[in-house]
Amino acid sequence: MDLADALTRAQGRYVDAHPRSRDLADRAGRVLPGGNTRSVLHVDPFAFRVDRVDGAYLCDVDGHRYLDLLGDYSAGLLGHRPQPVADAVRARLDAGWALGAMSDVEISFAEAVVSRFPSIEQVRFTNSGTEANLMAVMTARHVTGRDRLVVFDGGYHGGLLYFGAGGAALRAPFDYTVLEYNDVDALVRHFDEHGHKVAAVLVEPMLGAGGCIPATSEFLDALRRVTREAGSLLIFDEVMTSRMARGGAQEVTGVIPDMTTLGKYLAGGFTFGAFGGARSVMAAYDPASGGLSHGGTFNNNAFTMTAGDIANELVLADGVLDDLNARGRDLQRRLTEVFDESSLPFSVTGWGSLCTIHPIDGEIRSAADVRDADDRWRRLLFFDLLEAGFYIAQRGYIGLSVDITDDDVTRMVDAVAAFCDRHRDTA
Ligand SMILES: Cc1ncc(COP(=O)(O)O)c(C=O)c1O
Repeated sequence: MDLADALTRAQGRYVDAHPRSRDLADRAGRVLPGGNTRSVLHVDPFAFRVDRVDGAYLCDVDGHRYLDLLGDYSAGLLGHRPQPVADAVRARLDAGWALGAMSDVEISFAEAVVSRFPSIEQVRFTNSGTEANLMAVMTARHVTGRDRLVVFDGGYHGGLLYFGAGGAALRAPFDYTVLEYNDVDALVRHFDEHGHKVAAVLVEPMLGAGGCIPATSEFLDALRRVTREAGSLLIFDEVMTSRMARGGAQEVTGVIPDMTTLGKYLAGGFTFGAFGGARSVMAAYDPASGGLSHGGTFNNNAFTMTAGDIANELVLADGVLDDLNARGRDLQRRLTEVFDESSLPFSVTGWGSLCTIHPIDGEIRSAADVRDADDRWRRLLFFDLLEAGFYIAQRGYIGLSVDITDDDVTRMVDAVAAFCDRHRDTA
C-alpha cells in the first residue's frame, strides 16, 4: 500500500475511536492556540485526552488504555504517581505551602543533588530545565566576561534554547555559534580561531529531543580539552541524561563539566529545574560576595522541594537506575533486531532507558543524519502503536519509567514486529 494511504487510514481509525477527545479539542481550540499549551503534545488532527492513570497505563476519556512508554519525556521516571512522593506531598499539603520563606527540605534536596553529581558543589533551583539553562549560560557570561555561546545543531535546552528546525523565532537572542554534534574537527577549528571569545559550550551528553543520539567519547574529550584551554565553561545539560547513573552521564563518561543543568524526573514529576557547578562559579549568587540576584517566586516551592527530596531517595535506591537502564538497552537491542529483519527503513538510537526510533537507514551521529527522514513513517508508527495500546512520542522517542516491566518490553517489541509485518509492502 501507498504510505500516504496507510497513514490516512490509520488517522481515520484514530479519529473514529476518539469522539470525546475530538469534542474536547474543539473546546480547547477556542481558548488555547491549537488547543494546546505544550507544543510537543500536539497531534494532527487532535490529541487524545487523559482521564486518569492506572499503574503504568494512561486511560483516555474515550475509554482506551495505553501502556505509557513516553514517561512524560523523562519527568515520569518514577511512574505516574509514586506512592512515597504522593504521601510526602500530602503531608506538605497539610503543613502548608505558600511560605515565602525558607524551610529545611530545600537543604536536604540540595544535599542530595550535590552528593550525586561530581561537577556540582553548589546548586540553585529553578522551575524548569529551560530556566536552568538560561541561568547557567548567563552565569557563564558573567563569570567569563565573554558573550559567545557554542551550541549544537539539533540541541534542545528548552523552549527558548532550541537549535533544531523551527527553533529560531523563539531563541533567546545570544551570540551563538551552532556546530555539528559529534564533529570534533569543526569544534577544534572553531576554538583555534575564536576560543578566546567563547563564554561557554552548552551541550547535551546525548542529543535528546534531537533524536537520542549519544555523544562519542572523542567528542566529549575534545569538548573538555578545548574549553579548558580557552578558559570557557563547559556546561552539560543533563536534564535528560542525569538518569544514566547516580552521577549522570558525567559519571559514566568521566568527563566532568564546569556546570550542570538538571530537570525532569528529579522532583518526582513535579515542576523542576536546577543549575550548579563549582563553588567558585556559584559563589556569584552568594549575597555576601557575589552580588548576582537570582529571583523566582517558586524556586523553593514547597511541593517541588518535598517531592524532590523523596524522589531522589527512590531513584538512588539500590539497583533502580541500573535495572531501568538495562531494560532500556534490552528494548533498544530487540527493536534493532526487529527492524534489521524487516524490510522497513527504521533504526534505533539511544542510551540506557531512553531511545528513539528513526525512519531512516544508516549511521546516525548528528541531527543532520535524521533531518530528511520521512515523517509519515513516524506518524504511522505512532497511530498504529496507539491502536495496539502503546504510547510513545510522535517523534519516536521512548523514555522508560520504573513501572515498565520485562513483559511490557516484550509486548512492545512484538507490537513493533507486527507493525513491520503489516506494512512490509507499504512504500
Ligand atoms: C535536554 C533538555 N534540556 C532542557 C529541557 C527543558 O526542560 P523544561 O521542559 O523543564 O523547561 C528539556 C526538555 O525536554 C531537555 O530535554
